[in-house]
Amino acid sequence: MTTDELRRLFLDYFRERGHTVVPSASLVPEGDPTLLFNVAGMVQFKQFYASKGEIPFTRAASVQKCLRATDLEEVGRTIKHHTFFEMLGNFSFGDYFKREAVEWAWDFLTDVVGIPAERLVVSVHVDDEESAGIWRETAGIGEERSYRRGDEGNFWGPAGASGPCGPCSEVHDDFGPEAGCGRVECDPACDCGRYIEVWNLVFPQFYQDTDGERRPLERRGVDTGMGLERLAMICQGADTLFATDVFRPIVGFIKDEVDFGDRGEADEVGVRVIADHARALCFAISEGALPSNEGRGYVIRRILRRAVVRALNLGVDKPFLYKVAGRVIDVMRDAYPELDEKREQIAIVIKSDEERFQGTLERGMNILSEALDEIVRGGGGEVPGETVFKLYDTYGFPVEITRELASSAGVSIRAWGSNGSR
Ligand code: SER
Repeated sequence: MTTDELRRLFLDYFRERGHTVVPSASLVPEGDPTLLFNVAGMVQFKQFYASKGEIPFTRAASVQKCLRATDLEEVGRTIKHHTFFEMLGNFSFGDYFKREAVEWAWDFLTDVVGIPAERLVVSVHVDDEESAGIWRETAGIGEERSYRRGDEGNFWGPAGASGPCGPCSEVHDDFGPEAGCGRVECDPACDCGRYIEVWNLVFPQFYQDTDGERRPLERRGVDTGMGLERLAMICQGADTLFATDVFRPIVGFIKDEVDFGDRGEADEVGVRVIADHARALCFAISEGALPSNEGRGYVIRRILRRAVVRALNLGVDKPFLYKVAGRVIDVMRDAYPELDEKREQIAIVIKSDEERFQGTLERGMNILSEALDEIVRGGGGEVPGETVFKLYDTYGFPVEITRELASSAGVSIRAWGSNGSR
């Protein structure tokens, strides 16, 4: 099943069940200054849950463009992390609740897309007996495949500084003990790679204010989120996100361009980082989020520069990312025609920031390598704050790039001053 088919199957399924299919909201959220990027399908519906008055519909389904920079350093190193992704979601605002959410999720996964039922396990909030009961009745999932966790694992939201939130129940695919750490106590909360979260069913019941106070929500309901690329990975039997139909042509393009041959794992990671980051850049720039030195623009610049460093490690010292972006647009344009419309602008923005950074990248790399050599020769230590600052201020090195490069040499860095974490 291709990603295009999965997208369509999902929306058809929920349309047939009375949901209004709503287009993705923009990746750059409108009217929510506390969010740099859209992180979930529910963001455009925040006010629906909290509304006392009329709302245009009480059931919705969407495929939302999302960007999460929280796991940036995991991208490429694991099979399941990325920055930009598409989130499939169905929503109820004071309409149906847990029973339908669970029944439909189970039916969609096992019947419509055909994931073998015995591979799926769930997690349920420790206080949510109702959901545990519904999983038992609907899916035959008893205690041996149902993991109970508290707020740290099974409570979601709010997105941004305030908004709807509530307990959640997640569906995970279990790749089997041989895929993981092998510990008896390994469960879906373990990061070893045995489990991958497929679908998060949130049951928003509270509205959380900016001061953390929670009050009961006007329209309690359902907010689900399933990563389309992860679903594709499972349905296509791919061993990483980067082996799915949406990533393969991009990865193939990068490898051809750099004469990849039979290089090792570190270079594989580099290729994946570039593929992921090029997608994020295309979507963000198509919506006018441009690289800059603060806020949203700084996130974009960090993403871009991480990819440029990776490209240099693969032997590319000329602007290159903008060409990868062209390939991304070829792959995604049917589903997202706005990318094609902005093709030229995306290329220009990426290429000019690449050029600017490449101008100083090599000099910065030399300074860092010398500092690292000296530290390693001296038996260890950390890169001094002044060097980290100079790399940032003069050579445009985002701090986490310095940290990542240093950490590959087994060295940590000293941040400088109060904005050292930028
Ligand atoms: N909002 C929840 C999430 O992002 C479910 O859609 O996981």
